[in-house]
Amino acid sequence: MLPATSRLPEPSLFDRARAVIPGGVHSPVRAFRGVGGEPVFIARAEGAYLWDTEGRRYLDYCMAFGPLILGHAHPRVMAAANDALRDGWSYGTAEPYSLALAELITGRLAWVEKIRFVNSGTEAVMSALRLARAVTGRDAIVKFDGCYHGHADSMLVKAGSGVALQAEASSAGIPAGVAADTLVLPLGDIAAAEALFKRRGKTIAAVIIEPLPANHGLQPQQPEFVARLRQLCDAYGALLIFDEVISGFRLGFGGYAEQSDITPDLVTYGKIIGGGFPVGAFGGRAEWLDHVAPLGDVYQAGTLSANPLAMRAGYATLMELLDGRVYAQLETEGQFLEAALKAAGIDCVRQGSLWWLNTTQDHYRGIFHRLLERGIYLPPSAVEVGFLSSAHGRTELERLVHNLIEVAR
Ligand SMILES: Cc1ncc(COP(=O)(O)O)c(C=O)c1O
Repeated sequence: MLPATSRLPEPSLFDRARAVIPGGVHSPVRAFRGVGGEPVFIARAEGAYLWDTEGRRYLDYCMAFGPLILGHAHPRVMAAANDALRDGWSYGTAEPYSLALAELITGRLAWVEKIRFVNSGTEAVMSALRLARAVTGRDAIVKFDGCYHGHADSMLVKAGSGVALQAEASSAGIPAGVAADTLVLPLGDIAAAEALFKRRGKTIAAVIIEPLPANHGLQPQQPEFVARLRQLCDAYGALLIFDEVISGFRLGFGGYAEQSDITPDLVTYGKIIGGGFPVGAFGGRAEWLDHVAPLGDVYQAGTLSANPLAMRAGYATLMELLDGRVYAQLETEGQFLEAALKAAGIDCVRQGSLWWLNTTQDHYRGIFHRLLERGIYLPPSAVEVGFLSSAHGRTELERLVHNLIEVAR
């Protein structure tokens, strides 16, 4: 046997993960490439806190990138999930739980007459685009630079560097023909949208937008811009799709559509509606949704779609949000955070419980690691937004503000 001093060190969890999982992670941003270093391995979470595998506690402002508006392991969501487990967690047939969630949503959001549940935001977007193409009989989709809509082939497209509006794939493996049907516009540019519609309007099936873009920093748009998109879609017979995977049930129960009073034809949801379990949904006017199989000829399906765990956790989450008290609390706490950071000269963009430090990648890297050492976990990339939850009380916010001001200098 080797003497203790000459033994090889145990491989870290990340080393072991890298040996069997591409990059050691199941979603790229988790690899910490944006901030450097190695990801923390989290073993459990509760309220506003995470604990790593060594038992170290972190105050969490990433919050799983958005679904946990009530905090980690909220007791009522946990009770609903436990009930779901007790009752068996997948039936592959009709059940009352997705019905309850569908009725809750369609009963309150006028623009969602019908809804179909899927397993992720990506799937929701992919299905909504297929539906839009089917009902319009057109192929082109307009998206905006800086908006993220998941990883369906046609959405992994960015504005090309050369010819204006000539899109190029932002991932390997996207067929040129698929990329060619995605037209990419700059956010907020009404003239560019008008010019594109003038040129290609009759070929455009849909315009898809994160109406509150929150995947490349937080970039609130002028309502006139989104309203003009609505008009252009109407004038040219295209559908307007709001991707509210982040903003839905977060800006308020009805998300951006409710706040702006601009009505989308189709909407995609995810994150909060599953209470932190895998979920997505697309919905809209019954006239369109009735084209989806088995009623219509737009095929869409899923073995685990509307699984009772996500449906019951999502229902329990939305019930907590219905009376608006959580949104009022989040707005108050958000205002406190924004005012405190701005008073200290820290550039912060905020909408409700979404907040973002407007700084360089390099500066953010330093902030991220110094806060991590102090037990505060920010999203591991300068372009990702921070999330508040109802579990973040004033104590948690003051701790963030105090430490952020110290490390951001
Ligand atoms: C606006 C938006 N759309 C779609 C998606 C894709 O959702 P998912 O990661 O559940 O596939 C995301 C994910 O962050 C998103 O923010």
